[in-house]
Amino acid sequence: MQEEELPQSLSRAPVARGLDRVNPLAAGVLRRNGLKSWTKPAPSLYPHQWSWDSAFIALGLAHVDNRRATSELETLFASQWSTGKVPHIVFNPEAPPKSYFPDAERWNSSALSEHAPAGPRTSGLCQPPVHALAVKRIWETSRGKDERHAARARAFLRDNYPRLFAWHRYLATARDPEGSGLVTIYHPWESGTDNSPRWDEALARVSVGEVPPYTRYDLQHVADPSHRPTDEEYDRYLWLLELLKRARYEEAAIYESHPFLVKDVLFSAVLVAANEALLEIAEVVGAPREERALVEAWIERGRHGLDEQWDPGLGLCVDHDVLAGEPLRVRTVAGFAPVIAGDPGRERIKALLKTLDSPAFAGHPRLRRPLPPSTSPEDPGFHSRSYWRGPVWPVANWLLWWSLGRAGEHDRASSLRRETLEGLAEGGFAEYFEPFTGEALGSTEQSWTAAVALDMLATQNGSA
Ligand code: SER
Repeated sequence: MQEEELPQSLSRAPVARGLDRVNPLAAGVLRRNGLKSWTKPAPSLYPHQWSWDSAFIALGLAHVDNRRATSELETLFASQWSTGKVPHIVFNPEAPPKSYFPDAERWNSSALSEHAPAGPRTSGLCQPPVHALAVKRIWETSRGKDERHAARARAFLRDNYPRLFAWHRYLATARDPEGSGLVTIYHPWESGTDNSPRWDEALARVSVGEVPPYTRYDLQHVADPSHRPTDEEYDRYLWLLELLKRARYEEAAIYESHPFLVKDVLFSAVLVAANEALLEIAEVVGAPREERALVEAWIERGRHGLDEQWDPGLGLCVDHDVLAGEPLRVRTVAGFAPVIAGDPGRERIKALLKTLDSPAFAGHPRLRRPLPPSTSPEDPGFHSRSYWRGPVWPVANWLLWWSLGRAGEHDRASSLRRETLEGLAEGGFAEYFEPFTGEALGSTEQSWTAAVALDMLATQNGSA
C-alpha cells in the first residue's frame, strides 16, 4: 500500500483544514503494523491478532486496500472454533518471547477443547462481533470500482457469510441460553472494556483461588503502569481463566459453575448492529430464507433485551449480573448501547443524547474536547488515566458516531467526527487519551485508532 494513495471515496468527504495529513499518517500506522496477512493491533503491546481489533482494522483497510482488508478477516476466521466462536486472540507464533501474557501455553485451548482449531493457537474467549460491519464495508467500498474488484468482493462475501452466520448463531444460542437477546460474557476481557467499573461489582463477588505464578509483560510497553489494569485485577482475570480451563471451555460446564456470568449490553448491541449487516450480506449472497428469518428474530430479540436494561435514573442502558440477578448500575459509554443497536425510538434517542451532552459525559466542563470519556467523570469508578476507567477511546467514538449517523442525528455525528479527527491530528494514533488534557496514553501507533480515522475520513454519515 502506498501512503500517497488516497482512497477514491475520500473525495466525497470534506476534510477540515489541518486534517489533510491524518489520512496518510493513519495509512502509515496500518502499513507499519502490517504482517503478511494480518495487522498487529499495536507495535509491541499487542503482538498477536485480536478479534475486534482486526474487525476495525479491516473496516479501515477497506478504504485503502481491499485485498488486505479481506485477508485480515480471512486470517482471523481461519481460527474460528467448531462451535462458531471467533477467538479473541489468535497467537502469532513469531511474536518475540515474553512479549505478551497470558500466552498460548497458558490458554492451552487446543489441548483442552476438541472445538478449538488444531493448527493456529488461540485464546478461549471471544470479543464483540464487529466483523459483519467490516465485511459490509468491504462490500460497500468495492462498489463503483472495476468488475475485478467487485467480483472479488462478491466471492469474499459468499465465502464468509457462513462463517459470520455460525459466529452469530453461537452468540445467540450458547451465550444466551435464556433467550434474553443479551449476550453473556465469561470474562471482562470478552467485553473488550477490560477494567471498566462495569465489572467491579461482579468481580468483587468472585473469590480468587490459587493462580499459577505469572509475569505481566504489558507493563513494559506503557509509559506508566497507571495506564493499565492493576495487579489485583490481573489476579482476578487469571483466576477466571483457570476456571474456564477447568471447564475445558465447555459452554454448559461454564454456565453451570463459573462465578462471572454477565449480560453485556455493549456486546449485545454490537451483535444487533452486526446482525443487520449480516442480513444485507445474506441478501447479496442469496442465503436461505430460514437463515434470514433467524437473523431477523435475533435482531428483534436483541433490541427487546436492551430495552429491558434501560435505567431511566441514569439515562443509560446497564449490564446485568446473571448470578446476582441484579443490574450493574455504572455510568460508562457502554450505556449508549441502544443507539448502537439501532432503531431505539425518538424518546430513547433524546434521552441518550441528553446524557451524552450532560456533564456526566461529553458536556463535562473540564474536558479537553467534547468527547465521551469511557467512564463518566461523575462515576465513583472513574480514573482519568486507567484504560477503560475514564480515558477517551477513538474506537468508542467511532461506534457512537456511526450509530448516531444511522439514527439520523447527523449534526451530533458530525461534531463527534470532527472532534475525534482533530484530537488525532493533535495527539497521534494512541490507544486512548486522557480526557482532561488530551495526553496520549497506552500504546502509540494503535492500529484500530488509525483504522477508525480512515473510516471517518472516507465516510460522512456512517455509510460509505
Ligand atoms: N485487552 C486485553 C489486554 O489488554 C486482553 O484481551 O491484554
